[in-house]
Amino acid sequence: MKIVMAEHRGFCYGVKRAVDMALASTNANCPVHTLGPIIHNPQMVSHLKAQGIDTANKLDEIPAGRVIIRSHGVGPEVYHQAETQQLEVVDATCPHVKKAQQAAHALLTVGYQVVIVGEQHHPEVQSIIAWTNHKAQVVETPAEAEALPYYPRIGVVAQTTFAAKEFEAIVTVVKTKCEELKIERTICTATDLRQQAAIDLAKKVDIIIIVGGKSSANTARLASVCREAGSLAYHIESANELKPEWFTGVQVAGITAGASTPDWVIEEVYKKMEEMNVTDVVKLEAGSIVKG
Ligand code: F3S
Repeated sequence: MKIVMAEHRGFCYGVKRAVDMALASTNANCPVHTLGPIIHNPQMVSHLKAQGIDTANKLDEIPAGRVIIRSHGVGPEVYHQAETQQLEVVDATCPHVKKAQQAAHALLTVGYQVVIVGEQHHPEVQSIIAWTNHKAQVVETPAEAEALPYYPRIGVVAQTTFAAKEFEAIVTVVKTKCEELKIERTICTATDLRQQAAIDLAKKVDIIIIVGGKSSANTARLASVCREAGSLAYHIESANELKPEWFTGVQVAGITAGASTPDWVIEEVYKKMEEMNVTDVVKLEAGSIVKG
């Protein structure tokens, strides 16, 4: 069995930056917390805990010290509360998310009804909503866009990890819901690159393994685009979930990983797959695949 890695996989720029900032903020003299899990990856959360960085779900749970804002970002009220509690803020909001928050805020300020194309309950979307004084509408599908009331002016912002094709389909509907439309294309290219690399690989392999936290939206989306590309795809969180029977008769297997999956987790999956099919293992990077 040949095992092929997707060309773009694993940590994106924003996640890597947030993890590096978290690791650099450990301090023996004061407690350090992340506000919510730093990334949707339990192994990374345990790794940070071992370095003395705990996870708090609310600022109220942090009595003192440093608070790390993760890449998804937060609303203005969180910064205010942190200041009131005299916490030191380490702001690891991804610059692309910051741009989406600022775009939404600017649209609201000049009188647009802000529509966020994204998942209502995703923390990043929640943070963008907060920057619109909680006035933004969120739509995730063309049907939801169809249900929007008519507004004179709509300003659209995208969740950074939203699929570009679905975004355009939704925008087409939103256009019919207003007099004037302003579109802020805040989708991050890291997501597109990862999705495109996954699709390219899925088309060339017999099976593709997608590695990432079960609650990671971008990992789940990678699995769905691979299935749409016609590949047998399994979304796993760690190497322990791999099943030998998945690889029966498989000549070429692919691996990709969500933006919040650490390299060491991907490597463990690779090694376990190697052990499951010890004959003719060839580690390849995408682009050099020859079946058979
Ligand atoms: Fe930032 Fe894009 Fe990653 S928005 S957190 S670099 S997927």
